[in-house]
Amino acid sequence: MNTSHSDALVFFGATGDLAYKKIFPSLQAMLKRGHLNVPVIGVAKAGWNLDQLKARAKDSLEKHGGLDPAAFEKLSGLLRYVDGDYKDAATFQAIRKELGSAQRPAHYLAIPPVLFATVVEQLGKAGCAEDGARVIVEKPFGTDCVSAQRLNGILLQSFSEKHIFRIDHYLGKKPVHNMLFFRFANAILEPFWNRHNIESVQITMAEDFGVQGRGGFYDQTGTIRDVMQNHLFQVMANLAMEPPVRTDSESLRDEKVKVLKAIPPLEAKNVVRGQFRGYHKEPGVAPESTTETFAAFKLEIDSWRWRGVPFYIRAGKCLPVTCTEILVRLQQPPTMYEGFNLKSNYCRLRISPDIAFAISLNNIAPEDETASQPVEILGSRCPHADEMDAYERVLGDAMAGDATLFAREDYVEEAWRIVDPVLKTGTPVFDYEQKTWGPAMVEQKVIPKGGWHNPVVTG
Ligand code: BG6
Repeated sequence: MNTSHSDALVFFGATGDLAYKKIFPSLQAMLKRGHLNVPVIGVAKAGWNLDQLKARAKDSLEKHGGLDPAAFEKLSGLLRYVDGDYKDAATFQAIRKELGSAQRPAHYLAIPPVLFATVVEQLGKAGCAEDGARVIVEKPFGTDCVSAQRLNGILLQSFSEKHIFRIDHYLGKKPVHNMLFFRFANAILEPFWNRHNIESVQITMAEDFGVQGRGGFYDQTGTIRDVMQNHLFQVMANLAMEPPVRTDSESLRDEKVKVLKAIPPLEAKNVVRGQFRGYHKEPGVAPESTTETFAAFKLEIDSWRWRGVPFYIRAGKCLPVTCTEILVRLQQPPTMYEGFNLKSNYCRLRISPDIAFAISLNNIAPEDETASQPVEILGSRCPHADEMDAYERVLGDAMAGDATLFAREDYVEEAWRIVDPVLKTGTPVFDYEQKTWGPAMVEQKVIPKGGWHNPVVTG
């Protein structure tokens, strides 16, 4: 193990939903790859013992991805459990004891943010936050700019910024971080990747399902806080950032922050929020709730490269498909071919469910010499069977001390600065039918020239 690698993992919220759905499967995957060989200490207040935690881990693996008996045996050997209240100093003394000689534990707070301050303070008092210790925190990081600053303040009292890992699992998705490789390892894109050639950029994150039993959480959160301020802004930053001068984490993260700094606060006229019909019937949702389950924005990036190019971003639940896709639409070619109804060329990048990159070109239609037929040059693939899941990647990177795929303090605060005005003033929420592309108002108010591109998923 290299000397910057964490020598223990402590995860708070061990009996919770995130551990069940994501953390145990990621730990098993890390073990299978030989990437985990340190004590894993689960912490929760459930009145459980270690055997109960192991049984929960087994159940989690059976339900989420499949149990690998050999890896599970190793995981069982590494697992420890501390049961106790997060307010109780004795809980943290027990953690310290379980840590033994570990010098560089990674503390993963898979718990509601309201508990962060208590846990971080207790970790400090019990001597669990010393020099090499790290803290890993889940999104949403705060609910607005002020609360994010407050949270940052709390974490920074006990950990230095280089030891704080703010998870945005979207960054752990291979096609998302491949966007940078794609942009900066190929010479073909750069000449047209700017305001001189690009007319607009669209990013769509569509989900064909609802809140999936998370009504209580979702109703407090809404689409903007749940996926736009974090996941989709990260995608936008990857699309829009300048080439970093080096590939180290800070050079990369500096460029991402610059993108956000160039974006003025969102104005109500550039936002449409929607709610799918039937949302109120979801358990945990308030009867009069005005929380959005859909939102569409138009943003401007006021930089040398992007000034004047609108970025359209939308996300929603209960839409016709589940797909995240980007469409970079180029300006219309000067038209000497009148009557051909030429379409603008575009670049299409699909992040999920399959992975694709396509460039469209106009071509004379085979059956009609007076018509144009756009064709796509397409590279696509399904995720590789052995591909790292996003959680496995971010957890592994945090334990290895690589901050590249994590949101930095300044980035998170800038992201909130952009959406804050709209969150504070509120905008109307329009109903939409399930399995449609959101409220009709989108087509009037937040509509790219040439219209929205609605991803089609086949197979
Ligand atoms: C989560 C959101 O962060 O991302 C969910 O809370 C959303 O509402 C999910 O469904 C989407 O991520 P993925 O990896 O399942 O596409």
